[in-house]
Amino acid sequence: MYFPVYRPRRLRKSETLRRMVRETKLSPDDFIYPLFVCPGRKVRREIGSMPGVAQLSVDLAVEEAREAHRLGIPAVLLFGIPRKKDLRGTEGYARNGVVQQAIRAIKKEIPGLVVITDVCLCEYTSHGHCGVVVKGDVDNDATLALLSKMALSHAGAGADMVAPSDMMDGRVKAIRETLDKRGFQHLPIMAYAAKHASGFYGPFREAAESTPQFGDRKSYQMDPANAREAIREAALDVQEGADIIMVKPALPYLDIIRAVREQFDLPVAAYSVSGEYSMIKAACREGWLEEERVMMEVLTAIKRAGADLIITYFAKDAARVLGR
Ligand code: PBG
Repeated sequence: MYFPVYRPRRLRKSETLRRMVRETKLSPDDFIYPLFVCPGRKVRREIGSMPGVAQLSVDLAVEEAREAHRLGIPAVLLFGIPRKKDLRGTEGYARNGVVQQAIRAIKKEIPGLVVITDVCLCEYTSHGHCGVVVKGDVDNDATLALLSKMALSHAGAGADMVAPSDMMDGRVKAIRETLDKRGFQHLPIMAYAAKHASGFYGPFREAAESTPQFGDRKSYQMDPANAREAIREAALDVQEGADIIMVKPALPYLDIIRAVREQFDLPVAAYSVSGEYSMIKAACREGWLEEERVMMEVLTAIKRAGADLIITYFAKDAARVLGR
């Protein structure tokens, strides 16, 4: 079927025709909305590098979650900024830690909203690394116990799902075993399976106050150059009991989203990270790009690549566009 018999433009003639043959359709059901929870009451601290995103105290985080729920977004992903940080990230698994409080408050006020928690030590440690530091290096096996403790404390507070983002080897297994032993056999794990050591996390580290105080995360997060290794990482997490596997970042890693989608039959999530958001916000502020258009294009591209779920700071804005 070649020109002039076949003309692809025939089916592009009107919006109605285009709608009929559109292959990828976004829905608010696809989105997970990240929230940064900080101590205090009525606190709203804007993140300079992420316009429209703020650290929120529990009371305001509940309101933000309510708004997301009202827009049809099924889930939020919680990050905590603790009152104080220490070497072992104690506040991360404290009964009354800021995330634990937020889980209880959101589940009480909006029971229908799925509450997912980020399980990682970097927001809670004084050195800003994702695990316990021994002799200047992040000690893998010593970290597993703390991550398990953190996941368990989130579960105990009522979280619907936990999402380990630390990239220690064996953490999904450790968390699964701990949850199962303590009566949380039904709690799903969304594993940050292929998480790369990316420059695009910069603005998040301002939001979560989690910049490493020495060195970088390259000894535990993946090399951005590696795609085959991403499949191995995902395979390990699947074997260890992950229910959802995540690729992160999203936009510069569409090939990896596609590869993971093709290799596994579990739901695939993609984290469109802070730098992806800030990049669009900054260019639009300059008038160089049209925000709504590129936002929807990028989200569509991530879904087209194979993501079932997209973690995005644009969740509310995109849900609004889809709802009109
Ligand atoms: C914590 C974590 C990070 C992100 C999610 N969980 C940052 C990091 O690894 O430094 C990044 C999210 C974003 O950039 O939006 N380990």
